[in-house]
Order: sequence, then structure tokens, then C-alpha cells
Amino acid sequence: MSFTRRGLILAAPTLFAIRPVWAATAPTPRAAEGPFYPVKIPTDHDNDLVRIDGLVREAGGEILQLRGVVADTDAKPIADAVVEIWQCDANGVYRHPGDPRPSLRDRAFQGFGRTVSDKEGRFSFRTIVPVPYPGRAPHIHAKIIAEGRAPLTTQFYRADYRDNARDFLFNRMNSDERQRVSIDIRPLSGNDRAQWETDIVAILPDIG
Ligand SMILES: [Fe+2]
Repeated sequence: MSFTRRGLILAAPTLFAIRPVWAATAPTPRAAEGPFYPVKIPTDHDNDLVRIDGLVREAGGEILQLRGVVADTDAKPIADAVVEIWQCDANGVYRHPGDPRPSLRDRAFQGFGRTVSDKEGRFSFRTIVPVPYPGRAPHIHAKIIAEGRAPLTTQFYRADYRDNARDFLFNRMNSDERQRVSIDIRPLSGNDRAQWETDIVAILPDIG
């Protein structure tokens, strides 16, 4: 690539905007919801998981600007989709009473966020780069619901993580499916704590 960093940043929105055109052929592979979906949706459940209302301290971990697009199997963007993500904190602990290591929990990490896609199907979250926890490779859970489409529950993995193949859920997928739920995490320069960025594409299945 001969792009300068600035050139890449300027080019990124354009590349991102056209990505679903070639990416959308099959629905994003589903994955189990797992045991850590919130029992009770937290009061602060916005799209910034790094900051909780009323707390001065931000969550620990490496900040990740996550952008995504929701589309159908014809690559048409889906507006007004409800997009939820949840993941463990930088210590590998979920904000959930079932997590076996509650004493390690980062109380400044929101753990769960919800947003709605815009008219071009786009959404964003500010979160942390996912880390492994006992028995699992790093991943971000997502649940996406839109009118007229079947809901999608899935998990997105770090493409750069060398032990993904040891993860029992990642292992169940074929190489094409693995690729469609793997996200590239790239360095991002900026003047706040944001250090990394990634894009995801969520293709919702047809009903029936
Ligand atoms: Fe998980």
C-alpha cells in the first residue's frame, strides 16, 4: 500500500461504504448467545462502553472504535436496526452475575451497549479491543434485530489472534464462515484515547 496514513483515513469511509456490495452474499454466520447476555439491561446502555454515566474513570483496556453496517442478503443497507454488543472487560470478566471471577471486574466498563443503525445501515460503538478469557478466544458478541428480517446473534473475532483455532466455537466454522466473523483491528491516530479501529459487516438472514 502506498497510501499515507492520512490518505488511508480519508479513503476509509469510501471503502467502508462500498464494502457490503461485495461482502453481502450470505448471512453472517450465527453463534450462540452464550451465558453472559445481561440479566438486566444496564441503565447506561449507550454506544460508549468505555464510559459509564456518573463515573469519572474510564474503563481500562485498549480503546476500539468499532464501526459497522447492517445489510440484507441483497447488500441493501438496513436502517433502524437495533444493534447490541456485549463483551468482557480488559480483565476478561463479564458484567454478569454468572461470571466466575467477579472480584476482578472493571467496574468502569459498561459491558453492554445498544444503538440503532442510520439510514445507510451504519452504526458505531466505542469499546475496548476484546481480550481472551478462560476457555475462549477474544470476541465481541452481537445481536441485531430489524423489522422484516430474521434476527442475528453472533460473535466477532480478532483476525490477528493466533489461537482462534483453539476456540471451540470458532472451530465449528468453515474457513469462509471464519473469515466473515473475523475483524481486522487497525491502529488509529487521534487525540483522545482511541487507539484502534475496526469495521464489521452484519448481513441479516431472510425470514423463514
Ligand atoms: Fe463471550
